[in-house]
Amino acid sequence: MIIKDFYDKATGTYTYAVSDPLSREAIVIDPVWNYDIENKSLSTAGFDEVCEYLLKESITPLAVVETHVHADHITASQLFKHKFQTKTYIHEGVRQVCDSFQVSFHDEAFDGLLSDGQTFTVGGLTCKVIHTPGHTPACMSLFINESAVFVGDAVFMPDFGSGRCDFPGGSAEKLFESVTKKLFALPGDTLVYVGHDYGPNGRPVKCKTTIDELKKLNKHLNSEVSQSGFVEMRTSRDKQLNEPKLLSISMKYNLRGGLSS
Ligand SMILES: [Fe+2]
Repeated sequence: MIIKDFYDKATGTYTYAVSDPLSREAIVIDPVWNYDIENKSLSTAGFDEVCEYLLKESITPLAVVETHVHADHITASQLFKHKFQTKTYIHEGVRQVCDSFQVSFHDEAFDGLLSDGQTFTVGGLTCKVIHTPGHTPACMSLFINESAVFVGDAVFMPDFGSGRCDFPGGSAEKLFESVTKKLFALPGDTLVYVGHDYGPNGRPVKCKTTIDELKKLNKHLNSEVSQSGFVEMRTSRDKQLNEPKLLSISMKYNLRGGLSS
């Protein structure tokens, strides 16, 4: 398995291309369609960067998987679909997110809805869906080849903590359960790839940690923290956070699988 990360500086988002070296087929996780809020314009810079890599390495992207309905960037899934006929997937909790935002769910928005415990293969990659709600009801982690897990915004690098839980349908209680009961149950040497990093305290941005490192060192969710302690911390912290700048435009696109209408 080859894992290539791409970083979008404007939103601090990591996109991953995970490929099988034999079949040269890949899953793309959380691709970004860049949006300039000042000029209200879209750009394909992030998509172009991933494409350049895939074409250079002769890799075909068969699937785009969204770890959740993102509130801070627009998904580039439709760009992949258009260029490569890539299939798009998200957790079935997207229906609940649609309800929260009073948007009707459209069956054609995604090629498939994933459910907890489901396994599927892409090329030579074996993927297991782990529903990890808390940040949103549709959050999932993707455990690939029993060696790497892509956790979206459930949990971040040890010094950055955890995802906010104040979006509609979010729950700090559920996030605690998702991380400590489901992700922490994976083997300790499992590589953990996060959905965002902003390089706190001036350190260079990083996308990769391990389950053992999180258990020992994550500042919000580790083996020692109690559920009530986490919920109290998360709830008071969320009260201080601003609404994401691209919330409304992101939801407009992302609830429809990246389609504008
Ligand atoms: Fe998010």
